[in-house]
Amino acid sequence: MTQNGNHIILIGFMGAGKTSVGRRLARDLRLRFVDTDCLIEERQQTTINEIFASRGEEYFRDLETAVLEELLSAGKRPDAQERLVIAVGGGLPVRPQNREIMKKLGTVIYLRARTDTLVARLSGDTARPKLQGGALREKIESLMAARAAIYEETAAAEIHTDGKKLSDVVKEIENNVL
Ligand code: S3P
Repeated sequence: MTQNGNHIILIGFMGAGKTSVGRRLARDLRLRFVDTDCLIEERQQTTINEIFASRGEEYFRDLETAVLEELLSAGKRPDAQERLVIAVGGGLPVRPQNREIMKKLGTVIYLRARTDTLVARLSGDTARPKLQGGALREKIESLMAARAAIYEETAAAEIHTDGKKLSDVVKEIENNVL
């Protein structure tokens, strides 16, 4: 797989810090930050919860693929060579097609966090449909069991975020990955 993009793509479980790290990294590097969840909500003029409830998860996953394809074709235009920091939804790498597109977009970085960290960060969350109803820890564990290998396989680098300050995670990416 040839990488034909220069973007920085952050993947990882919900609550791993993709959006916070991505924003800070982009600010530091003076790059534009985009978040696939935000792009989808803006375009659909509604929330992810509402998209899942009214159209179902597969429809949302199609929207994720469409956003990635758009980012890829935008990067190929000669007038649009801007480098981006892109945070993607936690479930986006599950589709093989999305993994191929991400690898083409640029350097994929996996932000890792332990279950305990994720439980602490995600407890009380109401914006993530995959975590609603039922025991949070069990939901995280079962989704993580299905996804961990996918995150590992897709990423060119992994960063552990447990117990680290945001600024240290960002520095680690800048010093060790980019
Ligand atoms: C999802 C993660 C969410 C969002 C949607 C589904 C998932 O993104 O795309 O709620 O399946 O893991 P974050 O990882 O940014 O929370």
